[in-house]
Amino acid sequence: MGHGRSVIVMKSNASFLLSSLPGQTALITGASSGIGRSIAIQLAPSVSRIILVSRNRSAMESVAEEIRGIANTHIDIKAFDLSEGSSTMQLIQWIESNAIQVDLMVLSAGRSWFGAFQYNSVNDYEQMLELLNGSNVKLLKALLPGMTARKKGGILFISSLYAFTPAPFQALYSASKAFMTSLAESIRVETRGQGIKVTTVFPGTTATAFRRDIGETQPTGMCPDKVATLALNGWARGAATVIPGWKNYFLYLVMGAIPRNWRPRWAMAFNQRRGVNRQNPNTLTAKII
Ligand SMILES: NC(=O)c1ccc[n+]([C@@H]2O[C@H](COP(=O)([O-])OP(=O)(O)OC[C@H]3O[C@@H](n4cnc5c(N)ncnc54)[C@H](OP(=O)(O)O)[C@@H]3O)[C@@H](O)[C@H]2O)c1
Repeated sequence: MGHGRSVIVMKSNASFLLSSLPGQTALITGASSGIGRSIAIQLAPSVSRIILVSRNRSAMESVAEEIRGIANTHIDIKAFDLSEGSSTMQLIQWIESNAIQVDLMVLSAGRSWFGAFQYNSVNDYEQMLELLNGSNVKLLKALLPGMTARKKGGILFISSLYAFTPAPFQALYSASKAFMTSLAESIRVETRGQGIKVTTVFPGTTATAFRRDIGETQPTGMCPDKVATLALNGWARGAATVIPGWKNYFLYLVMGAIPRNWRPRWAMAFNQRRGVNRQNPNTLTAKII
């Protein structure tokens, strides 16, 4: 595992230290729920405009309501299905036709699926890949040049500890997070000295709706508010890498110590032990919600 030059933020009791980003605009994908929702609420008082993106408009309305209670930030609610490439292009067209300068972009939209790779359709996989990777590539291509030209802002990638190991029965998910991480780390180096900050966050188990998609009836794990605080503090400090919490940092070290060819089996056993894939995964097909 290439740990690279990482700044790792592990404390989970920190408060959000980002100073105000006057006149700046933030765009957050996956803002209706979980980590993206918490980031939107914590970030909103620091920026002038915030663009919330996900499919569920009414959930984003409630996020906006919460933001209005704490900040005067201008809020845009954009309901788009980012598993459709044409939807992401419509979002980009809206940004460009309104001459909006996005300074900080948080890429949190995502979900996982479990089940053996061989039993799902190419169509399902195209949607997964578009949501987890394709939409991010399109948004980055459209918005990154403006950030570096203005020499401010940056990107917060919400990846996963599964970027560091293949995860059987979540094969496409772990592969997509490895893709995202590799892209993020290259972009960080390519844009060095151009006035922006690029940070990748590696959540472990976090108590969000996401856990239901992988078979947990009662989501458990770290509080998404804490993950959001650590992610934002890490980004504000210019960290390359944020691993939220000691438990996740320990897992990260364990994964790094396991030989590469043992990791898939380790990940599968780890998943089964904590209640993911308790059913026979060979009988399951991906759940596209
Ligand atoms: N929770 C964990 O244990 C965990 C661990 C490691 C990494 N992560 C990563 O953290 C990120 C955030 O997940 P979370 O835990 O906060 O889960 P979450 O509460 O389920 O949030 C996922 C967000 O993605 C949005 N989304 C899903 N499908 C979408 C689509 N087709 N188009 C647009 N938006 C879509 C959802 O909004 P709508 O449903 O309204 O569209 C929601 O806002 C994900 O990228 C996930 O891979 C989570």
